Amino acid sequence: MRNIIITIDGPAASGKEKIAKFISRKWKFKHLDSGLLYRRLALILLKDEINDRDLKKIKKRIEKIKKISFQKSKKLRTQEISQLASKIAIHQFVRQYVNNLQYNFVNKHKKIRGFVIDGRDIGSVVFKKADLKLYIEVNSEIRAKRRYKQLIDSGEKSIYRKILKDIKLRDKKDKLRKNSPLVIPDEAHIINNNYSFKNTIVQINKLMENF
Ligand code: CDP
Repeated sequence: MRNIIITIDGPAASGKEKIAKFISRKWKFKHLDSGLLYRRLALILLKDEINDRDLKKIKKRIEKIKKISFQKSKKLRTQEISQLASKIAIHQFVRQYVNNLQYNFVNKHKKIRGFVIDGRDIGSVVFKKADLKLYIEVNSEIRAKRRYKQLIDSGEKSIYRKILKDIKLRDKKDKLRKNSPLVIPDEAHIINNNYSFKNTIVQINKLMENF
């Protein structure tokens, strides 16, 4: 039996993770956050003081990685890591590395009934044949407000206007890059996440009825 794959794509801070967690809990699907993997790579480069423009060094450093943790961590959620992850994600060799991690993860858990995977290119590139594709839409001011609250709650000093600017910059980078830009995947269902989470859940429950 083939695993069920649900993909969730959308711009920065659109609530992909919260929606993925909801699906994962309710349908007992395994959740994989692809953004976390880009963030892990960014953290490694930051620790080793490797410049994001030094592609040779980045390649070499990635080749040296033996194991990468899929564990969530507060360290990965800073604005600095968000920006760096988005900068390195433009390179195809970086994307290929992260895509392989995702394929290996799914292959390793063959007995799991379903996966819910979120990111920017999951329905359009990584799992094109997914069983259900979601694309999350929220206006940028609401996204910035929510991310601001998240950062403040986690103890990071933040300025709303800077967050809004950073989110817009990341959106631009993610949408305009040559390799796997953020697009609405073919056959994707658009989820309006501008309102309450309750409202979002109604949309999700309807689409998940057959699972
Ligand atoms: O949580 P948030 O939406 O802010 O970001 P994320 O999903 O953790 O992703 C961080 C960065 O990684 C994004 O801005 C993208 O540039 C990149 N990314 C990507 O290019 N492709 C993915 N499938 C996931 C993330």
